[in-house]
Amino acid sequence: MAVTRTFSIIKPDATRRNLTGAVTKMLEEAGLRVVASKRIRMSRGQAEGFYAVHKERPFYNDLCSFMTSGPVVVQVLEGEDAVKRNRDVMGATNPAEAAEGTIRKAYAESIEANSVHGSDSEDNAKIEIEFFFKPEEIVG
Ligand code: PPS
Repeated sequence: MAVTRTFSIIKPDATRRNLTGAVTKMLEEAGLRVVASKRIRMSRGQAEGFYAVHKERPFYNDLCSFMTSGPVVVQVLEGEDAVKRNRDVMGATNPAEAAEGTIRKAYAESIEANSVHGSDSEDNAKIEIEFFFKPEEIVG
């Protein structure tokens, strides 16, 4: 299996509860390596741009408000089949449906405050990584 990269966000509900380390530990234990990381306050413009694909969905405004409500940690993760590996350890979007042993089962508060984002395909991972990181900020 090829070593690939994916993009992750530790969301404001998790940074507020000081869970950055706990979430990162679960990512690492799942076989992912953090090759870039920064803690930022997302601007409204960044959130709207990042989630533009969801702009027709009823929760778009709330999602953008939530994602700008506190610090987030944006990360590039590397590992074998990184996109799937990350989605597996994240668990279902709705924590009520998340499996035991997943980040969202352990920490998510709701379908909105669900602690982590992860790219859903390799193509989107590339787009999302480029949205937040310059090539020289990624050290594999
Ligand atoms: S996913 O992960 O893309 O397959 O899930 P999806 O259901 O398409 O949701 C896309 C993002 O929207 C968030 N979401 C919501 N936010 C607020 N309220 C409601 N009801 C809601 N439903 C979904 C979900 O957490 C996804 O955020 P990201 O950051 O992409 O994980």
